[in-house]
Amino acid sequence: SLPAGSWSVAEMGVPDGGGGPVGHAAHDMAMPGRSVDTLRLPADVPVDVQVTLVARADGSGYTLNGQRPGPEIRAVAGQVVAVRLVNADVARGITLHWHGMDVPNGDDGVAGVTQDAVLPGGEFVYRFRADQVGSYWYHSHQVADEQVRGGLFGSLVVVPPGGVGAEATALVHLFGGRRTVNGVPGDVAVPAAAGQTMRVRVTNTDDGPMRAWSGSPYRVLAVDGTDVHDPTPVSGAAVLVTAGGRADLEVTAPARVELGGAAVVVGGGGPPAPVPSGTVDLLRYGSPAPLGFDPGAPTRIFDYAIGRRPGFIGGVPGLYWTINGRMYPDIPMFTVAEGDVVRMRLSNSSGEVHPMHLHGHHAVVLARDGVPATGSPWWIDSLDVPDGATYDVAFVADNPGVWMDHCHNLTHPKQGLVAHLMYD
Ligand code: C2O
Ligand code: CU
Repeated sequence: SLPAGSWSVAEMGVPDGGGGPVGHAAHDMAMPGRSVDTLRLPADVPVDVQVTLVARADGSGYTLNGQRPGPEIRAVAGQVVAVRLVNADVARGITLHWHGMDVPNGDDGVAGVTQDAVLPGGEFVYRFRADQVGSYWYHSHQVADEQVRGGLFGSLVVVPPGGVGAEATALVHLFGGRRTVNGVPGDVAVPAAAGQTMRVRVTNTDDGPMRAWSGSPYRVLAVDGTDVHDPTPVSGAAVLVTAGGRADLEVTAPARVELGGAAVVVGGGGPPAPVPSGTVDLLRYGSPAPLGFDPGAPTRIFDYAIGRRPGFIGGVPGLYWTINGRMYPDIPMFTVAEGDVVRMRLSNSSGEVHPMHLHGHHAVVLARDGVPATGSPWWIDSLDVPDGATYDVAFVADNPGVWMDHCHNLTHPKQGLVAHLMYD
């Protein structure tokens, strides 16, 4: 009895009744011997961090517990987090997706694939063990182009026992055409003594790539939640933070972390720093370290080729995105078995950059345009694939379920740029 369009790929904003079979098919197609509903932590697992989030619509967007963005959720590595999501009055339903956190499939929060949207008056309890130290975020995965833009998101941080020293979180977002940090337009001040180092966790919650930098030397400590091995000081260059992606930057006070129209001002800061001409090449940054698996002997090899062609969605003609030549490719597009080593070649000839996001897994970048990575293992969950570029990535299929692999420009999935990875 769900209203039309409140689930299926509607979660990413497909027009009501449109969008093809992807969501329903994925949800209905039971994996042999298991279903997403059983791929969850047991309901009676002892919980360490318990949070209730109440979502409401207001005139200009949405709030969680009365604030926009929602409250930060923070755990120590190994703790079990339980989040009770309550929908007060968001008409089209909501979910929460734990972006970058490789949770059990049943808790991934993808309406129409791993659960139904939570309708007004309803609730859903998410549970996961916070095994991965690092910077993540959560956001609604229902009509995401509207709900994420409207504020249904927050930060999720996992620290090692003992913490990581002085730190600050910067959720960067466009509200009403203004760049905000943690919901506040302009600069956010973080107190620090001169000479003190500060980890600034930068999250790009918008649609396009964002440049982050400091006028004084800084280091890139982590990308998409994973530590960079042996990060060296950077000067005169910015870090590109992919839509949906994160970068942890370490600055020494006083310093300003510039975030494209907003800033985190550490210890009083200094004058605004001009946009540097250079960009940190993460393919070469830091030094090599073991990957923990051998990407040289993949058991599955996939192409994910992004293009564009004329077509119809919900009867509306347009130029729509394609994957391997098709809009909304058949389910399952990519089938794996647990334990497979997967190599994927992401290529783009569509005329625009696409920030590609794989759910439930972290992939390591092996090469760009055929040039092998030589720096620290560059683990990603979100990766900008510019027009004309080709990236080779690899990951271990170690998290059974049905997982989205889509563009994080949040209007693009409803225009065809979404595929699913399914375990058989
Ligand atoms: Cu951050 Cu499927 O999304
Ligand atoms: Cu896109």
